[in-house]
Amino acid sequence: MSQPVRILLVDDDEVDRMICRRALARLEPQPVFADAASAEEALRYVQAHEVDGVLLDYRLPDMDGLDLLDRLAERSADERMAVIMLTGAGDLTVAVEAMRRGASDYLAKDADGRFQALVPTIVQRAMRQRELQRARWRAEQELAQHRLELSDLAQRLMVQEKALVRRMAQALHDRLGQTLAAIRLGFDAAVAAQGGQTTPAAARQLRRVDALIDQAVREVRQVLVELRPPLLDEHGLVAALDNELRSRAPGDGEVELRLEPQPAAAGLRWPPDVEYAAFMIAREAIANALRHAHAASIRILLDGSPGALRLEIVDDGDGMMPGSAPSRPGHLGMVGMRERAMAIGAQYAVDSSAGGGTRVCLQWEAGS
Ligand SMILES: Nc1ncnc2c1ncn2[C@@H]1O[C@H](COP(=O)(O)OP(=O)(O)OP(=O)(O)O)[C@@H](O)[C@H]1O
Ligand SMILES: [Mg+2]
Repeated sequence: MSQPVRILLVDDDEVDRMICRRALARLEPQPVFADAASAEEALRYVQAHEVDGVLLDYRLPDMDGLDLLDRLAERSADERMAVIMLTGAGDLTVAVEAMRRGASDYLAKDADGRFQALVPTIVQRAMRQRELQRARWRAEQELAQHRLELSDLAQRLMVQEKALVRRMAQALHDRLGQTLAAIRLGFDAAVAAQGGQTTPAAARQLRRVDALIDQAVREVRQVLVELRPPLLDEHGLVAALDNELRSRAPGDGEVELRLEPQPAAAGLRWPPDVEYAAFMIAREAIANALRHAHAASIRILLDGSPGALRLEIVDDGDGMMPGSAPSRPGHLGMVGMRERAMAIGAQYAVDSSAGGGTRVCLQWEAGS
């Protein structure tokens, strides 16, 4: 211990206080002592001063030592001190009760004063324990703070992503979409003006360009669908997921894709952020199941109430080795799902085992 510890001796018996003080004076560096002859005095002292450890006599004139222990334990974790309860010899019930209420240790005062020899060791041990507890408390606080900052950052990113995607979709629709529409009109008019007077080679070229214009229009629409989930804003999550599955099903061969909303959840709406995050997570989880799982069936389960949402994407495919997926560089789908869940303050879990399929689960509750 490099800094002297600050010890408060709470005992109405001046001789006992002196005995403890003398026993502890052997510590290096020497502790700084303060005395309190009653519980009230002790409470007043700890309000105004910093204290590392308290030697607390069980019998006090104005309050039971255990009750004083309760009062001291009300302090916040970083201010809490190590309390060592001094009991009468053989008073094991009090000792047990003191430990249950948060005392660091106890010491039985025997009539011939042999307990004095134990005081320094017990105080030193309690101080070390308290330091560890405080370090742990500080680390937990920092972790909680970082989690909060991370979730705040993810949330802001999602808001920006939504705005950017909206702008891109709008620009694509209004510019490229309009240009393609004009090309289609111009092309059709030029073909009509020609009245079929072309060489076979030119006619072949025209048919090719015709098909390419159609393809470009389809591709722009597809990109728009990917950027702005259709129906989500207007009709909500269930409608948008239903639409997503319908648009995927024909190309996906034998896989059975099923949306299974609970009847109570079918007509519900959740906050736009939550619906957007849930939709994007479902989209990625479905894409993963289709691409990687070799599944026969993929089910999207949805349940909730106005203030809660539970979404599960379950496939019966190959599954993954535990811990193998999230760390693959350049594969961002799983990371993105976790970040989206974090941004809306939802719980997120992927449950998978080799050969046992995969279950991606998102659980959101308002105000959590
Ligand atoms: N449902 C699933 N079944 C089996 N393996 C899966 C499943 N979902 C993910 N994986 C495995 O986890 C890996 C990581 O998935 P992730 O979505 O992060 O990346 P990706 O799909 O490979 O690429 P992308 O960045 O385009 O999403 C996949 O490459 C795949 O090996
Ligand atoms: Mg993926």
